[in-house]
Amino acid sequence: MNFETIATHIGGEVDEETGAIAPPIHLATTYELAPDGSQFHGYRYSREGNPTQSRLEAALAAIESGARSLAFGSGMAAGAAVIQALPAGSRVVFTDDSYYAFRLLAGDFMTRWGLEYEIVSMRDLEIVRAALRKPAALVWGETPSNPLMNVVDIRELASIARAAGASLLVDSTFATPALQRPLELGADIVLQSTTKYLGGHSDVGGGALVFGSESDLYRQVLHVRRVIGGVASPFNSWLVLRGVRSLAARMRVHCENAMAVATWLEKHPRVRCVHYPGLASHPGHAIAASQMSAFGGMLSFEIAGSREEAIAVVAAVKLFVRATSLGGVESLIEHRASIEGKGTTVPETLIRCSIGLEHQRDLIADLEQALG
Ligand SMILES: Cc1ncc(COP(=O)(O)O)c(C=O)c1O
Repeated sequence: MNFETIATHIGGEVDEETGAIAPPIHLATTYELAPDGSQFHGYRYSREGNPTQSRLEAALAAIESGARSLAFGSGMAAGAAVIQALPAGSRVVFTDDSYYAFRLLAGDFMTRWGLEYEIVSMRDLEIVRAALRKPAALVWGETPSNPLMNVVDIRELASIARAAGASLLVDSTFATPALQRPLELGADIVLQSTTKYLGGHSDVGGGALVFGSESDLYRQVLHVRRVIGGVASPFNSWLVLRGVRSLAARMRVHCENAMAVATWLEKHPRVRCVHYPGLASHPGHAIAASQMSAFGGMLSFEIAGSREEAIAVVAAVKLFVRATSLGGVESLIEHRASIEGKGTTVPETLIRCSIGLEHQRDLIADLEQALG
């Protein structure tokens, strides 16, 4: 069956008790047990698991072509749980353009937790090979990356990681399983901030990991979640599940609109460059075309001018909303370096856009008047 059909039906199985065609939300924190404490209903306590979260996890595993999935309260909680699950002394090789808070997670916490890390450019895979001459437990990639939209060849990265005995995690939040399924390309774990496209309406925070197999690492991460407790709430699980059912259709419009906006921006005299993997001019275009079915709803561009001029463009929009985050139905715009703050590596002239579901002509008209 095709992705659109699977995603539309997954997790929406008719409720056996009532016949309801929308999933129930189970808010209970605790479940009836047998006298000896065993779980004859399959659940015990909501931090350890609950039926709405289980429905979401089954749906996510199916649409990412994975064996197991774990839902969390945020994308960061999902990523942190993987790091916390590694044995003391483990080494992780991160891409230098991973979502900036993962680099904060490395810099501010990993050494304290007895873990080692190295942050390298993954634009050149020779650099990754060199970094893996020293043993590593995990390679952490992100493609397309936030906010520079760099693209990494997942198949190549997976084979490099495998040869070095490391697992590969790919943060695929910008692409979603509608456009890219890293587990099919050899990755071991996919990370999604479900706050973004999977939720899809800027009204739910969440994260998820999907594992290619029921590996030791999966079991360790499950243990971390049960004990440390970064679980997804039943209501948030339900909202993400609802988002999954319209994901394929929404992504189609996000992609069409982003392509139109990127193509228009590329010709604008005030724009120095556009970062969108759908453009033939993007250095990762060929790789993106080989591993994604379309190029996503995120783009960034650099103004031919100063930091102040970039901020003035962001100030002048009328339809785009000035806000961070991404993946909702409404278009958002931000001066990315200001959002990331001190220590950012993002160019000061870069503007990031999450292209929504409005009519593309209205989005282009707004950018046209803002660029002046
Ligand atoms: C690519 C990417 N990964 C992970 C995250 C973290 O997700 P959350 O904000 O749900 O913790 C974000 C958040 O913006 C992101 O853009």
